[in-house]
Amino acid sequence: TTAQLLLGKKVLVTAGPTREQVDPVRFFTNHSTGKMGYAVAKQAAKLGAEVTLISGPTNLSTPKGVHRINVQSAQEMYEQVMRHFEQQDIIIKSAAVADYRPKQTYDNKMKKTGGPLVMEMERTPDILKTIGEQKTSQYVVGFAAESTDVLHYGEQKLKKKNLDAIVINNIQEQGAGFGGETNKVIYLTAVGERIDFPLQSKEDVALHILQRIALQLKDDRR
Ligand code: C5P
Repeated sequence: TTAQLLLGKKVLVTAGPTREQVDPVRFFTNHSTGKMGYAVAKQAAKLGAEVTLISGPTNLSTPKGVHRINVQSAQEMYEQVMRHFEQQDIIIKSAAVADYRPKQTYDNKMKKTGGPLVMEMERTPDILKTIGEQKTSQYVVGFAAESTDVLHYGEQKLKKKNLDAIVINNIQEQGAGFGGETNKVIYLTAVGERIDFPLQSKEDVALHILQRIALQLKDDRR
């Protein structure tokens, strides 16, 4: 039996890609399947937490005991996270949120022309950064998918977004890309810990991260 390390804790998890609409038939998205975030939600529930999962479009079924809220765009994910974040103890942002969206969306299907198409894109809100700025006692964990200088960029994001911890994912590494069943991550915390986890299933990565968070909260007496 697993110890109920997160009993009574409220955990918010985001997962999956976002879809940024162009017109009624087209959108921009990315390769995220949501597996990592769903594994976190599942394991947190098994550890006794009250879990809210804010999910972009995925093919995955909702883990047992998890309250799931479906969203499409980065803007919708932002609104749902901001609505729920205050009452949380732990926030884990594993979603692959689009950084840009079309500046204009069209109510009718865009017609092709003979020439090329230029589309202006604008930044989406950085949900994690906003939480980092507004958090009070919440323990906030981000994910960073990097392909070069992974530690450098990971550390930078940890500081810049005022996180408590970051899970750095080297997407160049064997077994750590999008869509797979495994992941190989480095876990960094704001108090200077660094843990290099071996290649393992996403479920095990999730469990080990949650165990670290539970330990840290106990140390902080939060
Ligand atoms: O800066 P970067 O996008 O690499 O940071 C990744 C982390 O930030 C992830 O935890 C992701 O969920 C979060 N993020 C976000 N809102 C965005 C972009 C990223 O919450 N618009």
